[in-house]
Amino acid sequence: MDSEKIKVNNILIIHGPNLNLLGVREPDVYGGATLQDINRNLSKLTENTGFKLDFFQSNAESALIERIQQTMNDGTNFIIINPAAYTHTSIALRDAIAAVKLPFIEVHLSNIYSRESFRQHSYFSDLAIGVISGLGAKGYELALKYAMTS
Ligand code: DQA
Repeated sequence: MDSEKIKVNNILIIHGPNLNLLGVREPDVYGGATLQDINRNLSKLTENTGFKLDFFQSNAESALIERIQQTMNDGTNFIIINPAAYTHTSIALRDAIAAVKLPFIEVHLSNIYSRESFRQHSYFSDLAIGVISGLGAKGYELALKYAMTS
C-alpha cells in the first residue's frame, strides 16, 4: 500500500451502456432524471471548488476500457463508475479498472440486490472503495461528496 495519500482533484465519472437513455428508460426503475441532469448537478457541486470533473458515457465495452486505460496518463485520480449491464458481465472492464489502480466508487441507480438474480453479482464491488446502489441519482452525488472529502 502507498504510504503517501494522493490528493483527489481530478475525478472521472463513467456511465455504461443504456444510461444515455435515462429519463425515458424504465423511469419506474431508474428515475426521471436524464444523464444530462445528473451530470449538470454533479458539475454544480464542484463549481469554484478546484475539483475537475470529466464525464464519459458509452454503450461499447471497448470504448469504456479505452477511457479507463487513458487515466494512466491524463491525471485522473478518482473514478465514479456505473458500469450498468457490464457490472454483471464484464471481466474485461474489471481488468481495466484493476490495471489502472485508481480508487473508485461503484454506483447503481437501482438496488441491484433487490432485482433479478443475474443482477445480484458485480464484477466490480470487491475492488471498489464502496458501492452505492438503490439511491437513484442521489447516489452519484453522495459518491462525489465522498471523493471530494477523501
Ligand atoms: C444499473 C443496474 C444494472 O443492472 C442495469 O443493467 C443498468 C443500470 C443501475 O444503475 O441501477 O443498466 O447499473
